[in-house]
Amino acid sequence: MKAIGVEAVNVTKRFGAFTALDDVSLKVRPGTVHALLGENGAGKSTLVKCLLGYNLAEVGSFIVDGREAHITQPQDAGRLGIGMVYQHFTLVPSMTVAENLVMARPDVPRVINWSVERARLATFMAGMPFKIPLDVPVDSLAAGERQKAEILKQLYLERRLLVLDEPTSTLTPQESQEVLGLVRSLVQAGTITVIIITHKLKEVAAFADDVSVLRRGKMVGGGAVAALSATDLTTLMIGEKHAPAIIERLGAPGATPRLAVHNLATLGDHGRPGLNIDAIVVHPREIVGIAGVSGNGQTALLEVLGGQRFATSGTIAIADKPYHARRDEAFALKVRVLPEEPLRNGCVPSMSVEDNASLRRFDRNDDGSPRRWLDRKRMSARAKTMIAAYGIRTPSKDVPIAALSGGNVQRAILARELDGAVDVFIVANPCFGLDVKAVADIRARIVAARNGGAAVLLISEDLDEIRELSDRILVMRDGAIVFEAPAGADAQMIGSHMVGHG
Ligand SMILES: Nc1ncnc2c1ncn2[C@@H]1O[C@H](COP(=O)(O)OP(=O)(O)OP(=O)(O)O)[C@@H](O)[C@H]1O
Ligand SMILES: [Mg+2]
Repeated sequence: MKAIGVEAVNVTKRFGAFTALDDVSLKVRPGTVHALLGENGAGKSTLVKCLLGYNLAEVGSFIVDGREAHITQPQDAGRLGIGMVYQHFTLVPSMTVAENLVMARPDVPRVINWSVERARLATFMAGMPFKIPLDVPVDSLAAGERQKAEILKQLYLERRLLVLDEPTSTLTPQESQEVLGLVRSLVQAGTITVIIITHKLKEVAAFADDVSVLRRGKMVGGGAVAALSATDLTTLMIGEKHAPAIIERLGAPGATPRLAVHNLATLGDHGRPGLNIDAIVVHPREIVGIAGVSGNGQTALLEVLGGQRFATSGTIAIADKPYHARRDEAFALKVRVLPEEPLRNGCVPSMSVEDNASLRRFDRNDDGSPRRWLDRKRMSARAKTMIAAYGIRTPSKDVPIAALSGGNVQRAILARELDGAVDVFIVANPCFGLDVKAVADIRARIVAARNGGAAVLLISEDLDEIRELSDRILVMRDGAIVFEAPAGADAQMIGSHMVGHG
């Protein structure tokens, strides 16, 4: 197996009247890590999807391993040795890693001789620089392990150029280091070439050789990573010097609790402990940050608060009223939840941006009374306002929301959840996958909601984000709140409680 190079030559891709890629050229040298940067909606995913045969470019060509390539469907890319690791996982959760690998092969026989396949897998694994358990169901693996399994699958399929589209956006910093270190070692060994899409400039500096920057569908620059500073790259990405909005918490938190969770317990799953929370109390005009390493119960907490999971015991109260996370209660008490992975958990992908923008309110009048017919005019106006106010980049309000770039889906859902009066705002990892400008923007909006009087529960795996935004910090470990720290507390100290050495 030997790494291959690839080149895009004058590629133009349109969606209707919208030009997503405008005469884009890119050269990726064999045996290198090539970072692809750009703001949300710049065209990064579109470009690699053209290379992978998921999109068909109107103009331009691809040169793979020195030869002009005709890629019109994903199988063509596969045959040329090009594979993609997606941001969301593609392995079948209930099957084991071994089953996933074998089933992914295009030449898998109809009746599988497992002893033959096992031997083949064992030989393959022996040559790999890292190990993961083969005989456990994929859904029992932590996110970092799953990401490694995805990469393993591509290597098993003998891919020689891997495209990684935001591979670390759902990983913890430690997991990211591990996965990228592994990728780097495979590249250094000459096994693969890698194109990596990321918003994290630190990852570019640490793991990439070359970098290319897209802005609004055009290739605007790039070169050797060593020759470009973070400021250079940001300026290339947004076309101007970036002056982040100043985020300032104004006014002290109120005295009476707005959101109060007590003695909350859930059943565990996959051998992980369930929730066991004594108390989480959030006041008006307060951001309480929940810090923790992923997989320590954050998702379960969010699901209970969002009404997707039952607690076996405990109480939730909003302004002293019992709360069961039903839709009518959430509406009446002005509780909003921004879920993780909004495209999966926060909207209906095939419905338009406009319909998704009104998902919470289409069956209500403005005074909250029920209505029977859709008010298309209002829905349309609302969508237009949100698109303008949140800078959502979309061809129109009528395209399915799934057609938006990852960061723009995030903005659209945030716009919907912050629309109107909000008393309690529960948000998880709000900046996953967002570009620098959007991160600053969205953090400013969360603080603005707080300054406006909302009680905000911010669940985040990004400790810097927690420290920047929170009035108070709680550390979650093994489903419990194990530590409380004031705003601006030392990161090392919080970190030690996150991993249990506090
Ligand atoms: N199938 C489609 N139909 C219509 N428009 C699309 C489609 N796919 C992408 N687009 C548009 O093309 C533009 C580029 O999207 P793309 O997904 O390539 O952005 P990106 O650079 O990957 O952004 P992000 O960092 O948010 O993932 C966006 O404005 C998006 O709305
Ligand atoms: Mg993308």
